[in-house]
Amino acid sequence: LGLDRRVEAHLEEYLSQKFTTNENFQDIAFSRSSSTSSIATDEGLFEQPEPLAVSRSVIEKIVWRRSLQLRNQQQAWQESTEGRKMLEFRGSLPASKEKDALLTAISGNQVVIVSGETGCGKTTQIPQFILESEIESVRGAVCSIICTQPRRISAMSVSERVAAERGEKLGESVGYKVRLEGMKGKDTCLLFCTTGILLRRLLVDRNLKGVTHVIVDEIHERGMNEDFLLIVLKDLLPRRPELRLILMSATLDAELFSSYFDGAPVVHIPGFTYPIRTYFLENILEMTGYRLTPYNQVDDYGQEKMWKMNKQAPRKRKSQLAPVVEDALRATDFKDYSPQTQESLSCWNPDCIGFNLIENLLCHICENECPGAVLVFMTGWDDISSLKDKLQAHPILGDSDQVLLLTCHGSMASAEQRLIFDEPRDGVRKIVLATNIAETSITINDVVFVVDCGKAKETSYDALNNTPCLLPSWISKVSAQQRRGRAGRVQPGKCYHLYPRCVYDAFADYQLPEILRTPLQSLCLQIKSLKLGSISEFLSRALQSPELLAVQNAIEYLKIIGALDENENLTVLGRHLTMLPMEPKLGKMLILGAVFNCLDPILTIVAGLSVRDPFLTPLDKKDLAEAAKAQFSHDYSDHLALVRAYEGWKDAEKDQIGYEYCWKNFLSAQSMKAIDSLRKEFFSLLKDTDLVDGNMATYNAWSYDEHLIRAVICCGLYPGICSVVQNEKSFSLKTMEDGQVLLHSNSVNARECKIPYPWLVFNEKIKVNSVFLRDSTAVSDSVLLLFGGDILRGDGDGHLKMLGGYLEFFMKPAIAEMYQSLRRELDELIQNK
Ligand code: CDP
Ligand code: MG
Repeated sequence: LGLDRRVEAHLEEYLSQKFTTNENFQDIAFSRSSSTSSIATDEGLFEQPEPLAVSRSVIEKIVWRRSLQLRNQQQAWQESTEGRKMLEFRGSLPASKEKDALLTAISGNQVVIVSGETGCGKTTQIPQFILESEIESVRGAVCSIICTQPRRISAMSVSERVAAERGEKLGESVGYKVRLEGMKGKDTCLLFCTTGILLRRLLVDRNLKGVTHVIVDEIHERGMNEDFLLIVLKDLLPRRPELRLILMSATLDAELFSSYFDGAPVVHIPGFTYPIRTYFLENILEMTGYRLTPYNQVDDYGQEKMWKMNKQAPRKRKSQLAPVVEDALRATDFKDYSPQTQESLSCWNPDCIGFNLIENLLCHICENECPGAVLVFMTGWDDISSLKDKLQAHPILGDSDQVLLLTCHGSMASAEQRLIFDEPRDGVRKIVLATNIAETSITINDVVFVVDCGKAKETSYDALNNTPCLLPSWISKVSAQQRRGRAGRVQPGKCYHLYPRCVYDAFADYQLPEILRTPLQSLCLQIKSLKLGSISEFLSRALQSPELLAVQNAIEYLKIIGALDENENLTVLGRHLTMLPMEPKLGKMLILGAVFNCLDPILTIVAGLSVRDPFLTPLDKKDLAEAAKAQFSHDYSDHLALVRAYEGWKDAEKDQIGYEYCWKNFLSAQSMKAIDSLRKEFFSLLKDTDLVDGNMATYNAWSYDEHLIRAVICCGLYPGICSVVQNEKSFSLKTMEDGQVLLHSNSVNARECKIPYPWLVFNEKIKVNSVFLRDSTAVSDSVLLLFGGDILRGDGDGHLKMLGGYLEFFMKPAIAEMYQSLRRELDELIQNK
């Protein structure tokens, strides 16, 4: 640098410590360096407090030198033996043939769309191409590439892979960041993160200062976050003309994106797949000779689930889920098939995933087919783990000398992830039970056989946003084709669809984008917190805008719970909710729990509502299971029953008998553990938002009042409320929207014949034959009056009207009078707190 060598070293060290990331580094290189001043060749200067002014040319030199260093490192690796081997592998991927075309398109256009078959190297190669070319042009120290992934697990596994391909450890030039976790160093210039992380960054850094490239991956999935991000980025592009945006997609609806970005060029990466033989249910039945069990004797999973939900399940019930499918089935005769197959098909239950059938089919593959891994698509973590338990008990499939049984889903540990990519020992068949994560985002190389259950859970990807009670629904034709395509990557393969061909024909072509099929409450909050103006105006600029009614419903809901004021501005509560990445009602419950010093049980309840129901109901031990749940309750609340069950488990864990405790009480040990870790996660989120201080232990130590918890539950779940109408020997339930409703048979309240409270608040209702309420808690008039609606904003007209509507509807006008005075007292209480 032409300075004293020691000073130089000192300066560089100072800058590196000060500016821990590449983006920061660039930040000072080009913004702070405008304040020029001479630099003394005296060491003492650097001990001076900030601001440190150094000349622009000095910084440029440092940047140059770091860039040179990066280039030399890269060259050294590429010339090493291992590096060359890696380059050879990478060169064999279809993406590498398009490398030049891609880089040219990117340098000449602000937005480029890339499409290509899964596994062709989009995710691992394209960000790397950009990075390598920047490093080669000695711009390594000033480039900052962000690549978003819809799921945590892909951000983590891809970054690890890319670092390995570059012969580095994670956290050097390649890093990742997902919520609550990350690995990123001062030299990181390629960052894989979840879409949510980038959105959160936009909250504090509207112009993405310092970022040179944004790559949005898996846009074909049309997740809510991705669609949202695209609107924001589209607005940003004119403000940042040098920023490059690259969109990557697996299937070919690239035109839609291209026209959204004013005719941005599309680079297509041609792929190759071996031929794949396809079998549908009828073929599978013929081939294996398997007979489906009739409805009324079914022991398959799924059937059980439906019965749990519907107390008086008819022996042979019609599918409520898929009328299209029902029609398709009715309209088809299977006269080309054997009488046994035809009879068996008439027993097929579209609502249920046939575990016995899968077991039989896997056995058939193991015994009759050539070597090659099997990939089984299931709907979610819960059925994957049940199926795994079942298969492990099987003499062949459970024998680890013959079969390597693995799972692949959003919440698996990273050690387990790596196993999926490894080839098993000779003579051992790898079977991977996966969610649709293996459809496009994770590629397992040696798959030859695919088993497709035909369904997926249509929920958001983040575990925290998870709405686990959502029933699995049929996938689209495009998804089925994607799943099938996984079988032909290394040799000709086979795909088994566990449903009849006519059902496949009835599938929709594409999945509806998430923004068009899920509640928009969290999204609306995000729009407000990013100060993006009017919600409906903003959403009208989406790739496909949601219905106006859906938008209005969401805004209305947010007003009722007090997250938005009458003018659609964020309230204090609303601002806090935007910091908590979960459904607003759960976030509100947490905040209230913190405000009213009863966080401990509320953490359990909110965690419990975010995982699979921990209370198990095996079909053959239904009464025992219900009795077991009933011991946790004597106060008409499923939520409090959960708190007791969890606390019992926690004590049992201390004595190391947690598993026995679960077994005895029909509780899922996995769910209990998940609740335990979510509690910690939620607590640290609350700490981040400064709503609580200290550590959780302090909160554990506080005793709490059950009436208060009931009130906080009511506050979170409102307006999920129904009126209890007590009769002579039983009670009935009514909501304003649905009229008569029923309780889910799992609810502790379903066993009661009298509920000595006038109201039930509930978390969720599901429409099967009638409307069923899941977990509920009974509350009194005064609790409803005080805590129903928006208590953090003070009293709003909207709230009064809403509550007034309820009271009038259920003819309980007398209590309305109590309202004003109680309300005033409560407001005072809150003020004092
Ligand atoms: O994104 P796309 O589906 O186009 O492909 P990719 O994820 O970039 O994967 C390209 C290749 O890298 C595939 O053949 C994968 O098998 C391989 N890969 C791997 O071996 N290990 C990983 N952790 C990720 C990818
Ligand atoms: Mg990919």
